Amino acid sequence: LFIDWRQYPSITDALQWAGWIWRGTAVWDKGNSRPQKGRFRQQAEYIVWGSNGPMPINRPVSCLPGVFRYGNPQNRIHVTEKPLQLMKDVIQICEPGGLILDPFAGAGTTVLAAVVTGYRAVGIEVTDAYYKLGSDRVKIALEAEQKEDEK
Ligand SMILES: C[S@@+](CC[C@H](N)C(=O)[O-])C[C@H]1O[C@@H](n2cnc3c(N)ncnc32)[C@H](O)[C@@H]1O
Repeated sequence: LFIDWRQYPSITDALQWAGWIWRGTAVWDKGNSRPQKGRFRQQAEYIVWGSNGPMPINRPVSCLPGVFRYGNPQNRIHVTEKPLQLMKDVIQICEPGGLILDPFAGAGTTVLAAVVTGYRAVGIEVTDAYYKLGSDRVKIALEAEQKEDEK
């Protein structure tokens, strides 16, 4: 769950209230953002993450960084779309082939990152237009991959 500082307390509560185990928070450093006089620049989003059940320490997952630095994507189809490479990095927290849930799927970046790197994924998106955009995006990417494999 990517969140800014204002909703941080409620999202960490919501995650736990939903029965998940809150495992921690990583940071997406966007590098750039609107400057605010007399304020700190809000250049980070917080990546609140958890697991549905145990996550044994002996899982085949390496040490991951706590801060990810990527600029916003140039050609976005969703106003808050995340960089694809960022999501490919972040989902490495899941064991190979594991199942990833993104309950706020938007343009489907998490789902796309997951399926092209061998994970399984479920995305939930409330807005019909984004649901269609995200689903089409994943479908097109998978078809392109399949065509590439057939060459
Ligand atoms: C920050 S965007 C996600 C962007 C996504 N990570 C991407 O890269 O495209 C959050 C999305 O959550 C959706 N959303 C908001 N409330 C929701 C809810 N209760 N259930 C499902 N989706 C919801 C919004 O429509 C929006 O598209």
